[in-house]
Amino acid sequence: MTVDIGHVDDFVDKTVKLVTIEGREIGIIRWADEVYAVANLCAHQRGPLCRGAVAPRLQGGAEPGTMELDAGAPIIACPWHGWEFDVRTGQAVWDERYRVRTYSARVVEGRVVVDLGRRGHASR
Ligand code: FES
Repeated sequence: MTVDIGHVDDFVDKTVKLVTIEGREIGIIRWADEVYAVANLCAHQRGPLCRGAVAPRLQGGAEPGTMELDAGAPIIACPWHGWEFDVRTGQAVWDERYRVRTYSARVVEGRVVVDLGRRGHASR
């Protein structure tokens, strides 16, 4: 089931906007030219994941002892205990055994469209 949830300009870049689609709370994350959709349900203790902050992933740098931000890898942090998930895949950053539900989302002619029947991300 595909649902039009609004104009892309209604979604502020690098933030989460919580929407309800067919009774499901879903966080819509606009990140540069992409949009992502993540269920508002943390894989840890079912906390309100999408009330957390999004940020670029912090990872080891090219030189020993350095760190870098990967702007192409948006991460959402749960506000309850800080577990972090890659919004593109739903996978926990620190352990691939944990994952949150994601939905396919894309921009079509300026409109954000979410497909409830498909997991993951769909590019433009
Ligand atoms: S409920 Fe999300 S980190 Fe614990």
